[in-house]
This record gives sequence, structure tokens and C-alpha cells, in this order.
Amino acid sequence: RIKIILYIYNVHSSTNILKKVKIQLKSKDEIEKLRYACQLAAEVLDMITEHVESGVSTKYLDDLCFQHITEVQKATPANIGYRGYEKTICASVNQVICHGIPSDEKMLKDGDIMNIDVTVKKDGWHGDTSKMFLIGKPEPHNQRLVKVTQECLYLGINEVRPGARLGNIGAAIQSHAENNHYSVVEDYCGHGIGQIYHDEPQILHFGKRDSGIEIKPGLCFTIEPMINQGDKQTRVLNDGWTVVTKDGRNSAQWEHTVAVTENGYDVLTKRSEEALD
Ligand code: MF3
Ligand code: CO
Ligand code: CO
Repeated sequence: RIKIILYIYNVHSSTNILKKVKIQLKSKDEIEKLRYACQLAAEVLDMITEHVESGVSTKYLDDLCFQHITEVQKATPANIGYRGYEKTICASVNQVICHGIPSDEKMLKDGDIMNIDVTVKKDGWHGDTSKMFLIGKPEPHNQRLVKVTQECLYLGINEVRPGARLGNIGAAIQSHAENNHYSVVEDYCGHGIGQIYHDEPQILHFGKRDSGIEIKPGLCFTIEPMINQGDKQTRVLNDGWTVVTKDGRNSAQWEHTVAVTENGYDVLTKRSEEALD
């Protein structure tokens, strides 16, 4: 996620854009290169799934992802070196909203919920995706958070089509989250992606229908809603990275990279387990 910069757009209006930004639309050839990186990122999440279990540390999972990306995929873990971040994945457990730093001390235990977020860079292109994992058998209220958050992602994706506005994505996510008595994290957002990891436009996970810029074919961006059981407020720990809920209640997140097509969307980071389209 990138920390949201609120002064760029007036999120409640389609016309009152406070600062104009140029956004490069991608050609079909470029989207195929982006898709290749995205499929490598999706494959990392598939690969790691069988290793996620009670008793393993998040650093162990990070090491496996690093090895897979560098040795099997011959690609680059884009998070390493990003603003001084030193790990391959973010592993965000329970009340951690995002940017959890893998560590030898952080052991997974039965009942945890965890997001793993990975970005693979291949031939200059970035694929960014994340999914939630259930450790053992989490309580029903935590399983429900994970499921509703994935529904939020899919409902957001379903709004993507030429002629619609970016605000429709956030509106769909926010209404589903709030109908389920959850809150949407507003301090971090999705982002344009391609040869630049975090590019314009910002993709808000809340907002008003028919607000924001018009969606056009060739636009490529992530949608990555962070949904809280309690309050939307966030806090960054002293390590400078780990974002947690202020109230200590749990948070979930799912992320895909999508490309806008002539008549809808293409989920570039789709995994085989997913029934999309
Ligand atoms: N992958 C995250 C995103 O979805 C960003 C992680 S940056 C890191 O945008 F430095 F924390 F890894
Ligand atoms: Co992202
Ligand atoms: Co990500």
C-alpha cells in the first residue's frame, strides 16, 4: 500500500480534481509483460500456502518466498530495498493491518489470521498481490472478516470498466464492509502499477459512486482493501513499518493487480483456486 495523499483528489467530486496527474495507459504488449510478473507473484502465494501452519515463524515463510523468487523464478523481490524495507513479503497477523515485518520471533499459532503480500519484479514490471491465510481453526468472527474482505475485493474489481469512475470501486467496497459492521481503513490505498511499483492513480477503498477520474482501457492498478472489525484508525509501530489497528481488533486484506480492458477488467494476479469472471 501507499500512504494516501489526501490533497491530490477531492474524493467527493468527479470534477473538482485538486491536482492533475498524467497517467500512462499501457499497450496490450505492455500488459502481457505486466501479466507475466503478476503470475509469478500469484505463484509465490500458491507456493507458500502448504508451508503456512501453526509453529512456523514469519521469517521462515519470508525465506522460502525469497528463495522461490530469486532461484526458481529468476526474478526480483520488489519489496527489498523499497524505502529501506529489508524483507521479501509483508506478513500481517491479526491486528496488524499491513506491512508486518517477517521475524524469527513471530510464530504463527492456531486461530491466527494472516495476510501475505508479495511483489515480484520481472523484466522491469511489477506484480503485486496478497491473500489471507487461516492458521488452524480461527474463531467464526475472524473467518467471517476474512471472507467478507475477499468479497469486498471482488465487488471492487467488478466495478472496473471503461467509462465508469474510480470512486465506484471504493463505494462498492465501503458499502459491503459497512453493511457487515466493519470499517474501511482510509490511511492506505491501492495504486497504479507497471514499471513503477507505486504509481498514480491512488485507488481509494471508500468513497462516492461517480466520483474520481474516468476509468480507461490500459489503466493498470491494484485494489487492496484493508477491512477492520472495529474502528478504522491506524497506528504505526516504532519499527517505522508495522501498521496496526488503534483499538487492537483484527484486520484483513486481499489484493489483486488488474488491467482495464475494452469492456471490463482482467485480473492479472488471479490464482488457479479463484473462480473469477
Ligand atoms: N505490497 C504492498 C502494497 O500492496 C507494499 C509493501 S511495501 C513494503 O502496495 F516495503 F512494506 F514491502
Ligand atoms: Co499494492
Ligand atoms: Co501488495
